[in-house]
Amino acid sequence: MTASGVPVRPHLVSFDPDSSARPVHRMTWHPVPVEAAPPVDLTGRRVLVLGVDHDLVAHVGAALAAAGAIVAAPDRDTTDAIDGIVDLNVTGVGIDADGTGDWRRALTATTEALRARYPAWGREHRVDHHWYLAVTAMGGLMGYRHAADGQPLGGVWAGFAKCLPRELPALGVKVVDVQHAAPDVVAAAVLAEIGSWDLFEIGYRDGVRYALTARAEAVEPPAVTLGPDDVVVVSGGARGVGFALARGLAERFGCHVVVTGRGPLPVDAPWFGLDHAAHDEAQRAEIAAARGTADLKRARAAHRRERELRDVRDHLAQAAHDGLRITYEPCDCTDEDQVRALFDRVPTPTVVVHNAGIDEPKRLDLKTADEVVRTVDVKVTGFGNLLRAVLPLRLKAFCNVGSVAGRMGGMIGQVDYAAGNEALARLGFHARDAYGVPVRTLCWPTWDRLGVIANHDAAVRYVSTLAPAEGVERWIAELLTGGTGEVMFLGRVGSALVPGQLRGFRLFTGHPDLARLHGLADHLGVVEEFEPFRRLRCRRAYVPGSHPCLAEVTVAGAPAVPVSVMVEQACALGDWIVPPGWPRQHLVSLDWSLDHRGLVVDGPFGLTAEGSGDEDLWQVTVTVDGAGTVVLTYRPTPPPRPLAPTTPTAPPRFADAWAGLALGRPRWTADAVHLPVTTPADLWTTTFAPPHGIAPTAVETLDRLGARRPEVWPDARDTDRLVVDGGVVFGLHGDTVTLRAPLTRESSTRTP
Ligand SMILES: NC(=O)c1ccc[n+]([C@@H]2O[C@H](COP(=O)([O-])OP(=O)(O)OC[C@H]3O[C@@H](n4cnc5c(N)ncnc54)[C@H](OP(=O)(O)O)[C@@H]3O)[C@@H](O)[C@H]2O)c1
Repeated sequence: MTASGVPVRPHLVSFDPDSSARPVHRMTWHPVPVEAAPPVDLTGRRVLVLGVDHDLVAHVGAALAAAGAIVAAPDRDTTDAIDGIVDLNVTGVGIDADGTGDWRRALTATTEALRARYPAWGREHRVDHHWYLAVTAMGGLMGYRHAADGQPLGGVWAGFAKCLPRELPALGVKVVDVQHAAPDVVAAAVLAEIGSWDLFEIGYRDGVRYALTARAEAVEPPAVTLGPDDVVVVSGGARGVGFALARGLAERFGCHVVVTGRGPLPVDAPWFGLDHAAHDEAQRAEIAAARGTADLKRARAAHRRERELRDVRDHLAQAAHDGLRITYEPCDCTDEDQVRALFDRVPTPTVVVHNAGIDEPKRLDLKTADEVVRTVDVKVTGFGNLLRAVLPLRLKAFCNVGSVAGRMGGMIGQVDYAAGNEALARLGFHARDAYGVPVRTLCWPTWDRLGVIANHDAAVRYVSTLAPAEGVERWIAELLTGGTGEVMFLGRVGSALVPGQLRGFRLFTGHPDLARLHGLADHLGVVEEFEPFRRLRCRRAYVPGSHPCLAEVTVAGAPAVPVSVMVEQACALGDWIVPPGWPRQHLVSLDWSLDHRGLVVDGPFGLTAEGSGDEDLWQVTVTVDGAGTVVLTYRPTPPPRPLAPTTPTAPPRFADAWAGLALGRPRWTADAVHLPVTTPADLWTTTFAPPHGIAPTAVETLDRLGARRPEVWPDARDTDRLVVDGGVVFGLHGDTVTLRAPLTRESSTRTP
């Protein structure tokens, strides 16, 4: 985190790319009943309905039209004037009915429809003005239970949908899972959910509406043993995280681990035998000789591939040197014949790990449908081929390597990667329920500088990374359970969030970032407009009497939001408007000008946050309708901390203090005003009370002193004493300066 103390705004402090690994939390997801969504008027909304089952598409289209929507014809209407897409994808088509052709066709149609709308939908900042609703038929509990008769490939669209807000942040998204794909059932679910863009995943089973909630859960005790007699096949395990596992298993249990890759190793290629220095030298020469961008791109791609294969060479050589039984077999897991041939020629496996995966990060508008399908193919078709090969076997464990990107949305550029990973989890549920195969899908966050994630520095804006040693340890523990289902590992949540994700995964529990995330969500209220890196407009309701902090201040007898709460609210909104790329930022100073009369609680507050500058000096101006502004200034690092004054005096007393019910009362001595310590729970009655960044009593005191332009340092929340020296107010915690603000004469102009 920061070099010194607790950051003023933890949200923005995110992770240093060189030190981003944090322990992960083991989470599992469960369907829970939830209340019905409010009905929404569809009159005049233009909807495109997609899907490979034409009768179902027609039926749902007719139901939407009957509800007042204008249903666009998919083959004719390519204009931007579509409000939303209802995507039935492979719903209504059985998993075995048409092999894998249907999902490719459906995913191509989905990709092309989204790409066609991408520019217009990307320009739209009104939240939920456009939307994407995907329907799946996995049994009504999103496949988590009763998945046997469902269509698990719906998982492709679940992953796709949940990742879209990363790229189209104002888009409303939802995935609706139905018990079975009867036209009336599907149409009823679509009409019940369309227009309610809150939770991302909803299911209907036996008339009950379900959502998914996450909770922390310890790994089960070992139920299987591994030893030298075990053979473990790891698809794509010759490099990246798969090889880390291969080594771990071979070292710890003496297993024979068969790792695979897409083809034979090019042992005769001249570059294959070079050492790294010579190879790098050759690469530099070729890149220097490249003519034009295309040539350069080709040379870079070729060299990346050579490096990958040389990594495989080095891994295998090192393993052999260390006496580990790790052998390499060429096998493209998307080719059924190759997978069958692999299982024919290696000793019978007792454990299979489907680890192969590709990720070519690019925004969806820059991706072709073929590229999207190819990324999903490795996960989905690879899984199908491996599953067919293991059906006659009695496995101790079958492990799918999935990703948090699939479960909760990936990074910008990973919509297809998220789709493939999410499908893997749902295919695992289906294989468990339909065939009794002990499939467990592990959804990993980014491993620390290991494997597929090309831009590590960008990845650490999203979540903290996983230390490879911890990953391998946890992976082995999961394999030894022989268990099934899906397990997600998540470290700390970074700053690259979009508001829709907070409401989409609202039922998340059991994680240390919940207070921060709930605090952000509470302060957001209802988001009306959002343009990343520039502007956010929201409506925040405060209800008198609902929180202790709303009993502190009255203006002309009416309850008002305390200045400290509004300043904190402004800081929380500022968290969403950061410089492009989410660089690490520190809140270093504030400047508020708020008329207390405008803070009276007589309806929701309209707030707008607007950012400007660059990452060296970034400012967010938060305007509170009818009350004034709070200007927040950020820099990449906190400025040097001043020394505490040596001969301070107490700040002047003021008469119009707050009630002291939630904030407590300040106490004056000759040389300081002592501030009571106020915790978030003193101010709020919510389960996850929003943590504050600056001690609220310090803000209230500064406001009354007319010192409304404080510089703040990390740990400003711990300020417990204010002193004055030379016309400047200093906030202190012990002998440490936590804030500093010039005294002005403005206080006399304020309304108490
Ligand atoms: N690294 C992470 O932070 C992270 C996080 C979450 C999930 N994951 C998952 O972990 C798995 C491994 O990724 P990684 O990070 O270790 O990436 P990686 O270093 O790029 O390794 C990917 C592996 O997949 C293999 N592969 C790709 N397509 C294949 C195909 N059609 N048939 C057989 N093998 C194929 C590659 O083999 P060749 O290229 O040699 O053919 C390579 O061995 C992936 O499924 C990924 O989604 C990784």
